[in-house]
Parts: sequence; C-alpha cells; structure tokens
Amino acid sequence: MERHEADMRRALELAERGWGRVSPNPLVGAVVRSSAGDMVGEGWHEGPGTPHAEAVALAQAGADARGATVVSTLEPCNRFGRTPPCTTALIDAGVARVIVGATDPDLGDGTPGIAELRGAGVEVVTGVLGAECRELNEAFERHVLTGRPFVILKAASSLDGKTAAADGSSRWITSDEARADVQRLRAWSDAVVVGSGTVITDDPSLTVRDRRYADARPPRRVVVDSTGRIGARARVFDGPAPTLVATTDRTPHDRLSAWEEAGAEVVIIDRDDAGRVSVPGLLDALGKRDVQGMLVEGGARLAWALVDGGHVDRFVLYLAPKVIGGEHAPGMVAGAGFIPVDAAIRLAFERVERIGPDLKVVARVHGHR
Ligand SMILES: NC(=O)c1ccc[n+]([C@@H]2O[C@H](COP(=O)([O-])OP(=O)(O)OC[C@H]3O[C@@H](n4cnc5c(N)ncnc54)[C@H](OP(=O)(O)O)[C@@H]3O)[C@@H](O)[C@H]2O)c1
Repeated sequence: MERHEADMRRALELAERGWGRVSPNPLVGAVVRSSAGDMVGEGWHEGPGTPHAEAVALAQAGADARGATVVSTLEPCNRFGRTPPCTTALIDAGVARVIVGATDPDLGDGTPGIAELRGAGVEVVTGVLGAECRELNEAFERHVLTGRPFVILKAASSLDGKTAAADGSSRWITSDEARADVQRLRAWSDAVVVGSGTVITDDPSLTVRDRRYADARPPRRVVVDSTGRIGARARVFDGPAPTLVATTDRTPHDRLSAWEEAGAEVVIIDRDDAGRVSVPGLLDALGKRDVQGMLVEGGARLAWALVDGGHVDRFVLYLAPKVIGGEHAPGMVAGAGFIPVDAAIRLAFERVERIGPDLKVVARVHGHR
C-alpha cells in the first residue's frame, strides 16, 4: 500500500501539470509500474481533445504494461468521448492491477469504469489518497452533479479584517507574493467574478498575467451589475480574456449595446427580491456555460449575497500584517450579517501558509447547502 501511495503522489503531481488547461475536463495523472517494479510510464491529461492520462502513460510503457500496475488519480473512463475508452486500453494492454484515487461522477452511477475492469479480471484497488484526488476535481464534480459551479470567495485584508480603507482605497493591502498566488487561483477558475462596486472603485482587469499560465485558456471575467452602472470603458472589457456582464432587465438598452460593442456577452438574469441580479440565476447561467470553478474577488456586498444564500464552498483569505482600522472601512463580507453570533456560518480551516510577509488562510464551509 505504501508504494501505491507514493505512486499516487507522483500521479497527483503529474495531474497538476494540467492546471488551468483541462476544463471542462478533470485534472488526471497516471503512472505505470511494471511487474518487475520499475516506473515505466507517466502521463497527464493536457485538455479537451487530447489523450487521457492513462492512455499517455500506457503508450510510454509499451510492452512493459503487460502485468503492470497502473495508478490513476481518477477512475478510468469506459466510454467513447473525444478519445477511446481507457478501460479498453488498459484491458488490451494486459495490465494486472489498477489503483484508483477518486471515482468519476461523470461516468454515471455505480462506478462503471471500475466495474468494467473488474469484469475483465483486472484487480482494482480504490480510494488510495482518495481525499486528495477528489479535492483536485471538486469543481468538476460539483458541476457534474448539480450543473452549478464550485464557489471560492477570495479576499485580501489587513489583520483587523479590512479589505479597503475608509476612502475606498485598497491597493495594495497584501504583498506581490500574495498577488502572484492569486494568479494561480485565477488560472484554476473558469470565471473570475466581481460586483459592479469593485469595477467602479478599483477598475481591475481580472486577467491571468503569470507566464506559467501563458498557454492556458484565459478565465472568463464576470461583472454582476443589476442596473447598468459600469461603463464600457472599464478595464474588464480590454484584453484577450472573454467578458460576461450579468445584469437584469433594469439596465437601459443603450448600455446593453455598449457592453456588447465592447465585446462582452450580456446575460439578462432574473431579479432577486431587492431587484438585483439573482445569485441562483447567476450560478445557473455560469454553469450552463461550463463554469465549474468560480472565483469571487469581491466586493463585500456581492460576497454577502453569496454567503447569505449558502453558495460559498471555500474562503481563501490573504491576511497582511497591517492594521487599517476605521468604522467605515469595509470588511470581507457586508450586508445584514448573521444575527446573533450563534447564527454565523461554520467553517473548518483547511490550510494556513505563509506567502511572503502575508498569511494565506483557506477555510471550507461545513454542511454546504
Ligand atoms: N481587498 C479585497 O480583497 C477587495 C476585493 C474586491 C473589492 N474590494 C473593495 O471592495 C469595495 C467594493 O465593494 P462593494 O461591496 O462596494 O461592491 P461589490 O460587492 O463589488 O459590488 C456590489 C454591487 O454589485 C451589484 N450587485 C448585483 N447583484 C447583486 C447581488 N445579488 N448582491 C449584491 N450585489 C449585487 C450591486 O449593485 P447594483 O445593484 O447597481 O447592481 C451592488 O451594489 C471597494 O472599495 C474595493 O476596493 C476589496
């Protein structure tokens, strides 16, 4: 089992090479260990239309795949998509054993990929580093199961929880290193989402500029603006990344046309009770466009709408060793808040890391609705 775990760690590392490139497919890595115990094949999925990780690793192993153990982060597929089924390739190659990290919800009920391998006499061991393998594709899984994205809420704040000073200035609270780390999160996302307030105050471009992701697909930039407050000259309309404006029928036609002329896709979404863009409507609209991973980068009002509705899965907070203070300086989440304190949503800290001078705190929401 120890060797299987070590091999699965390697497969996880390989899977990560597809970071920012594979959506709407899952990240997958695989290795082949020959019957003599040698590592004879490695592969990872590079994105839609390219071979699956198991197929790449098997091709590298060649004749050494006979009697070998294949370790894959995800259950091998058993059906024709854009490429032939991996189960057939594994059976035809004569492998003895397949070690699976996580099952693939996209294959349907009852883990048919595993069943097919077992039916052909291949030994299958499941759940090796299962939690890690599942986490790698949690956005993919959420989208397959619900049609909606997995939502990460990201913020940068001072130690006293302020995301801007009382005059609205917020550049820059955290360090260059923290902002470089955000680039990795953006690359993971299929959509980077902000409220109209953030566009008006900060005019962010919301692009991935890190050279590590230069050949990855640029995530879609999404602005949520119920009434047409943002102009078509905002930076989110510049550059090669696609832009979507989520709005309501309250926005005047000339504003809708100006956004479209600036190259954006404009989507009219139902109003909520307050006349703003309905959050469930927004999630459905993005899910329909194959947005699996959604990164919300502010501001506090939009954050509250998502938190209040129970739509946030994970918080990623970059915490700077600074104190901003100020009664009117905003925090990460605004709105009415949960009252009394017992009504607060419960999180579990997943990770705390030092990023340059700052801290990165990652927390998962318990009992996600
Ligand atoms: N430090 C950080 O990490 C960070 C990140 C981002 C922003 N910020 C700061 O946050 C401030 C901006 O935040 P903000 O709270 O004013 O604005 P925001 O959350 O970016 O945008 C809020 C606006 O979004 C629109 N909206 C549309 N549908 C909504 C819905 N269902 N729920 C809530 N809002 C909806 C509303 O305007 P309409 O009704 O007109 O549509 C609302 O006023 C700036 O000072 C910025 O610098 C800090």
